[in-house]
Amino acid sequence: MGLMLLGYLSGSWLGALWVCRLAGVGDPRQQGSGNPGFSNVLRVHGRRLAAATLLLDAAKGMPALWLAMMLGMPPWAQGMVGLAVLLGHSFPPWHRFRGGKAVASAFGVLLVLTPGVALCCAALWALLAWRVRTAAVASLASAGVAPLASLWLAPDYVLVIVAFTALVLVRHLLNIRRLGSGDEHAL
Ligand code: G3P
Repeated sequence: MGLMLLGYLSGSWLGALWVCRLAGVGDPRQQGSGNPGFSNVLRVHGRRLAAATLLLDAAKGMPALWLAMMLGMPPWAQGMVGLAVLLGHSFPPWHRFRGGKAVASAFGVLLVLTPGVALCCAALWALLAWRVRTAAVASLASAGVAPLASLWLAPDYVLVIVAFTALVLVRHLLNIRRLGSGDEHAL
């Protein structure tokens, strides 16, 4: 429970807000898609700030997960710590519980729990973002592939990864609606 709280609190610091504040480029919640995440920073401010955002959001959950592993917690319990990180990112108490879509933070969590799945998802994300130029399509496809990849690469983590996927899908409901109406933001 203590590690879940640590995970939730570390997840709740939004990399995009810190990076944009430090760079003096305003608040990403008022720019582009309005999402405080890596994709929107890429869209509005380019690769350098997006890379910094990705790094921060991916890394922030790692200490809690490393602790969970060092304490010998079973895979499901490590997964709950990871889920807490994603919930912190999506529902941060400091920002009226309005956070991001948990894609970069899920990548960081997966990188610790099961690097093979993380790398499969990242490769698919990069390929689709490059070909389709729509972050949400890349994120939704990667989230869908994660449980399938974990069946093969990390069966102990399948259930928690299904929970990660469900959270990412719920956080993309507006994107799905915009994709349906043809109004989704391009990258
Ligand atoms: O990683 C978030 C991405 O899937 C969608 O972001 O800014 O296009 O709503 P955005």
